[in-house]
Amino acid sequence: MRDDIERILIDEAVIEKRLDAIAKEIERDFPEGPMLVIILLKGALVFAADLLRRVPRPLEIECLNVASYHGGMESSGKVNFLDRHFPDIRGRHVLLLDDILDTGRTLHAVSNRLLEEGALAVHTAVLLAKEKERAEEVQADYVGFEIGDEFVVGYGLDYKGRYRNLPYVGVLKPPSD
Ligand code: IMP
Ligand code: MG
Repeated sequence: MRDDIERILIDEAVIEKRLDAIAKEIERDFPEGPMLVIILLKGALVFAADLLRRVPRPLEIECLNVASYHGGMESSGKVNFLDRHFPDIRGRHVLLLDDILDTGRTLHAVSNRLLEEGALAVHTAVLLAKEKERAEEVQADYVGFEIGDEFVVGYGLDYKGRYRNLPYVGVLKPPSD
Protein backbone atom coordinates (compact mmCIF):
# COMPACT_ATOMS: atom_id res chain seq x y z
CA MET A 1 0.00 0.00 0.00
CA ARG A 2 2.81 2.42 0.86
CA ASP A 3 3.99 2.20 -2.75
CA ASP A 4 0.70 3.70 -3.93
CA ILE A 5 1.15 6.78 -1.77
CA GLU A 6 2.85 9.82 -3.26
CA ARG A 7 3.35 11.60 0.04
CA ILE A 8 2.26 11.45 3.63
CA LEU A 9 0.27 14.51 4.55
CA ILE A 10 -0.36 13.89 8.25
CA ASP A 11 1.45 11.18 10.14
CA GLU A 12 0.10 9.06 12.95
CA ALA A 13 1.81 10.85 15.84
CA VAL A 14 0.49 14.22 14.68
CA ILE A 15 -3.04 12.84 14.34
CA GLU A 16 -2.91 11.32 17.82
CA LYS A 17 -1.78 14.56 19.40
CA ARG A 18 -4.57 16.46 17.69
CA LEU A 19 -7.15 13.89 18.83
CA ASP A 20 -6.04 14.44 22.44
CA ALA A 21 -6.83 18.13 22.02
CA ILE A 22 -10.20 17.64 20.30
CA ALA A 23 -11.29 15.10 22.92
CA LYS A 24 -10.55 17.68 25.64
CA GLU A 25 -12.62 20.30 23.82
CA ILE A 26 -15.55 17.91 23.44
CA GLU A 27 -15.32 16.88 27.07
CA ARG A 28 -15.36 20.55 28.10
CA ASP A 29 -18.13 21.70 25.69
CA PHE A 30 -20.73 18.97 25.92
CA PRO A 31 -23.57 19.35 28.40
CA GLU A 32 -23.82 16.93 31.34
CA GLY A 33 -25.44 13.57 30.69
CA PRO A 34 -24.74 10.75 28.30
CA MET A 35 -23.70 11.84 24.84
CA LEU A 36 -25.08 10.25 21.72
CA VAL A 37 -22.40 9.86 19.09
CA ILE A 38 -23.31 9.10 15.50
CA ILE A 39 -20.55 7.69 13.32
CA LEU A 40 -20.86 7.98 9.55
CA LEU A 41 -19.71 4.71 8.05
CA LYS A 42 -17.35 3.71 6.83
CA GLY A 43 -15.02 6.69 6.56
CA ALA A 44 -15.30 7.92 10.15
CA LEU A 45 -14.66 4.51 11.75
CA VAL A 46 -10.97 4.95 12.47
CA PHE A 47 -11.29 8.57 13.54
CA ALA A 48 -14.21 7.69 15.83
CA ALA A 49 -12.48 4.72 17.44
CA ASP A 50 -9.38 6.75 18.26
CA LEU A 51 -11.24 9.90 19.30
CA LEU A 52 -13.92 8.34 21.48
CA ARG A 53 -11.46 6.33 23.55
CA ARG A 54 -10.04 9.69 24.58
CA VAL A 55 -13.38 11.04 25.82
CA PRO A 56 -13.80 9.87 29.43
CA ARG A 57 -17.57 10.13 29.88
CA PRO A 58 -20.67 8.03 29.32
CA LEU A 59 -21.71 7.87 25.70
CA GLU A 60 -23.81 5.82 23.34
CA ILE A 61 -22.83 5.07 19.78
CA GLU A 62 -24.98 4.74 16.69
CA CYS A 63 -23.82 4.39 13.10
CA LEU A 64 -25.33 5.62 9.87
CA ASN A 65 -24.56 4.54 6.35
CA VAL A 66 -24.72 7.27 3.77
CA ALA A 67 -23.31 7.36 0.29
CA SER A 68 -22.27 10.27 -1.84
CA TYR A 69 -19.01 9.26 -3.52
CA HIS A 70 -19.83 5.85 -4.94
CA GLY A 71 -16.21 4.80 -4.57
CA GLY A 72 -14.53 7.25 -6.92
CA MET A 73 -12.93 10.65 -6.50
CA GLU A 74 -15.88 12.92 -7.27
CA SER A 75 -18.90 13.59 -5.10
CA SER A 76 -22.08 12.46 -6.84
CA GLY A 77 -23.94 15.52 -5.58
CA LYS A 78 -26.64 13.53 -3.84
CA VAL A 79 -26.63 12.05 -0.36
CA ASN A 80 -28.42 8.74 0.08
CA PHE A 81 -29.38 7.27 3.45
CA LEU A 82 -28.81 3.55 3.20
CA ASP A 83 -30.14 2.31 6.56
CA ARG A 84 -33.56 0.75 6.87
CA HIS A 85 -33.99 1.91 10.45
CA PHE A 86 -33.12 5.31 11.81
CA PRO A 87 -31.87 5.41 15.43
CA ASP A 88 -34.12 7.06 18.03
CA ILE A 89 -32.45 10.39 18.67
CA ARG A 90 -35.39 12.41 19.96
CA GLY A 91 -34.35 14.99 22.55
CA ARG A 92 -30.68 14.04 22.37
CA HIS A 93 -27.55 16.13 22.07
CA VAL A 94 -25.81 14.46 19.16
CA LEU A 95 -22.15 14.48 18.22
CA LEU A 96 -21.90 13.59 14.54
CA LEU A 97 -18.56 12.26 13.31
CA ASP A 98 -17.37 12.17 9.72
CA ASP A 99 -14.00 11.67 8.12
CA ILE A 100 -13.81 14.73 5.91
CA LEU A 101 -15.69 17.88 5.03
CA ASP A 102 -15.48 18.28 1.28
CA THR A 103 -18.45 19.73 -0.63
CA GLY A 104 -20.36 19.85 2.67
CA ARG A 105 -23.33 17.96 1.25
CA THR A 106 -23.01 15.01 3.59
CA LEU A 107 -22.76 16.95 6.85
CA HIS A 108 -25.49 19.31 5.70
CA ALA A 109 -27.90 16.52 4.73
CA VAL A 110 -27.20 14.39 7.79
CA SER A 111 -27.38 17.28 10.29
CA ASN A 112 -30.71 18.35 8.83
CA ARG A 113 -32.06 14.82 8.97
CA LEU A 114 -30.97 14.46 12.61
CA LEU A 115 -32.80 17.65 13.52
CA GLU A 116 -35.88 16.51 11.58
CA GLU A 117 -35.77 13.26 13.53
CA GLY A 118 -35.96 15.25 16.77
CA ALA A 119 -32.37 15.76 17.93
CA LEU A 120 -32.14 18.62 20.41
CA ALA A 121 -28.80 19.78 19.03
CA VAL A 122 -26.26 18.47 16.55
CA HIS A 123 -22.54 19.10 16.95
CA THR A 124 -20.16 17.93 14.27
CA ALA A 125 -16.56 16.76 14.25
CA VAL A 126 -14.44 15.86 11.24
CA LEU A 127 -10.88 14.64 11.03
CA LEU A 128 -10.22 16.72 7.91
CA ALA A 129 -11.72 19.75 6.19
CA LYS A 130 -10.75 20.73 2.67
CA GLU A 131 -10.12 24.42 2.12
CA LYS A 132 -12.51 25.13 -0.72
CA GLU A 133 -15.82 26.65 -1.55
CA ARG A 134 -18.57 24.31 -0.36
CA ALA A 135 -21.73 23.36 -2.22
CA GLU A 136 -23.61 23.68 1.09
CA GLU A 137 -23.12 26.26 3.83
CA VAL A 138 -21.81 24.09 6.61
CA GLN A 139 -19.06 24.21 9.19
CA ALA A 140 -17.85 21.56 11.57
CA ASP A 141 -17.64 22.41 15.26
CA TYR A 142 -14.42 20.42 15.61
CA VAL A 143 -11.89 20.04 12.81
CA GLY A 144 -8.77 17.93 13.12
CA PHE A 145 -6.85 19.41 10.21
CA GLU A 146 -7.50 21.81 7.36
CA ILE A 147 -6.04 20.44 4.12
CA GLY A 148 -5.81 21.62 0.53
CA ASP A 149 -8.34 20.58 -2.09
CA GLU A 150 -6.80 17.26 -3.07
CA PHE A 151 -7.91 13.66 -2.81
CA VAL A 152 -6.52 11.88 0.27
CA VAL A 153 -6.68 8.36 1.67
CA GLY A 154 -5.86 6.60 4.92
CA TYR A 155 -7.02 6.79 8.52
CA GLY A 156 -10.50 5.71 7.40
CA LEU A 157 -10.61 7.41 4.02
CA ASP A 158 -10.75 5.22 0.95
CA TYR A 159 -10.25 5.15 -2.75
CA LYS A 160 -12.49 2.48 -4.28
CA GLY A 161 -12.83 0.86 -0.88
CA ARG A 162 -9.10 0.58 -0.18
CA TYR A 163 -6.48 2.30 1.99
CA ARG A 164 -8.78 2.88 4.99
CA ASN A 165 -6.36 1.03 7.25
CA LEU A 166 -3.33 3.19 6.53
CA PRO A 167 -2.34 4.71 9.88
CA TYR A 168 -1.70 8.14 8.29
CA VAL A 169 -3.38 10.48 5.82
CA GLY A 170 -1.67 10.55 2.44
CA VAL A 171 -2.04 11.55 -1.18
CA LEU A 172 -2.30 8.79 -3.78
CA LYS A 173 0.02 8.59 -6.76
CA PRO A 174 -1.79 9.32 -10.01
CA PRO A 175 -3.03 6.11 -11.69
CA SER A 176 -0.28 4.69 -13.91
CA ASP A 177 -2.53 3.46 -16.75
P1 IMP B 1 -18.96 15.85 1.05
O1 IMP B 1 -20.40 15.43 1.17
O2 IMP B 1 -18.62 16.28 -0.35
O3 IMP B 1 -18.54 16.88 2.08
O4 IMP B 1 -18.03 14.59 1.20
C1 IMP B 1 -18.08 13.81 2.24
C2 IMP B 1 -17.67 12.40 1.91
O5 IMP B 1 -16.96 12.26 0.69
C3 IMP B 1 -16.73 11.97 2.98
O6 IMP B 1 -17.45 11.39 4.04
C4 IMP B 1 -15.82 10.99 2.27
O7 IMP B 1 -16.35 9.68 2.38
C5 IMP B 1 -15.83 11.41 0.84
N1 IMP B 1 -14.61 12.18 0.50
C6 IMP B 1 -14.49 13.50 0.27
N2 IMP B 1 -13.23 13.86 -0.01
C7 IMP B 1 -12.50 12.72 0.05
C8 IMP B 1 -11.09 12.43 -0.13
O8 IMP B 1 -10.23 13.30 -0.39
N3 IMP B 1 -10.74 11.13 0.01
C9 IMP B 1 -11.62 10.13 0.32
N4 IMP B 1 -12.93 10.36 0.50
C10 IMP B 1 -13.37 11.64 0.37
MG1 MG C 1 -15.76 7.38 1.21
